[in-house]
Amino acid sequence: MINMKVIAVVGSPRKDGNVGTLVNEVLSAAVENGNQVERYDLNQMDIRGCQACMYCKTHDRCRLDDDMSRLMEAMRAADAVVFGSPVYFWQFASQFRTFIDRLYVFFNPDFTVKLPKGKKAVVITSQGNPDVGTFDAVFKDFERLLMTYGFEKVGAVHMVAGGSPDAARERKDLMEEAWALGKAL
Ligand SMILES: Cc1cc2nc3c(=O)[nH]c(=O)nc-3n(C[C@H](O)[C@H](O)[C@H](O)COP(=O)(O)O)c2cc1C
Repeated sequence: MINMKVIAVVGSPRKDGNVGTLVNEVLSAAVENGNQVERYDLNQMDIRGCQACMYCKTHDRCRLDDDMSRLMEAMRAADAVVFGSPVYFWQFASQFRTFIDRLYVFFNPDFTVKLPKGKKAVVITSQGNPDVGTFDAVFKDFERLLMTYGFEKVGAVHMVAGGSPDAARERKDLMEEAWALGKAL
């Protein structure tokens, strides 16, 4: 589809690190296909943790009015979302987990979902560990979240041995996978 709105949510504090590099590759391919893209770097944004106030269960918005407000609007409007995070201590980075908690706004009180279904999703992760299987459980849990919110997962790129922020640039195979996912949106 041409002229889709594609947004990327990046959880790494290293803007041009491995996650950022692979996310940019997905976005560049999406631009080449004629789509509009926007990248949100969570580490540059003012996003507080969910306060569990339940305001969003009786209102169509979060009571906190921080930078998550514009990201929530962007998610509502997006046709595709590229989710990117490094693995920190056997989990996604805290910047990304804080973002995930704030997605509570998209649940109705009975856990049906307010977010329009059928948005496409791409997942980009990076880790220091060279074994791609080590964090399968983390990636599977995130897939459950995507399924719950009605996303259609187009694919994922899992960078390994990503200690250096430049490592992904050397992984031509993964860069090509990221480009192909951007083209497939
Ligand atoms: C605080 C912190 C915790 C980390 N924990 C892990 C970990 O548990 N397992 C792992 O494989 N890599 C871990 N890493 C390494 C990062 O996942 C790795 O460097 C990744 O490529 C960073 O992505 P980026 O280049 O996009 O920032 C950690 C790095 C930091 C800074």
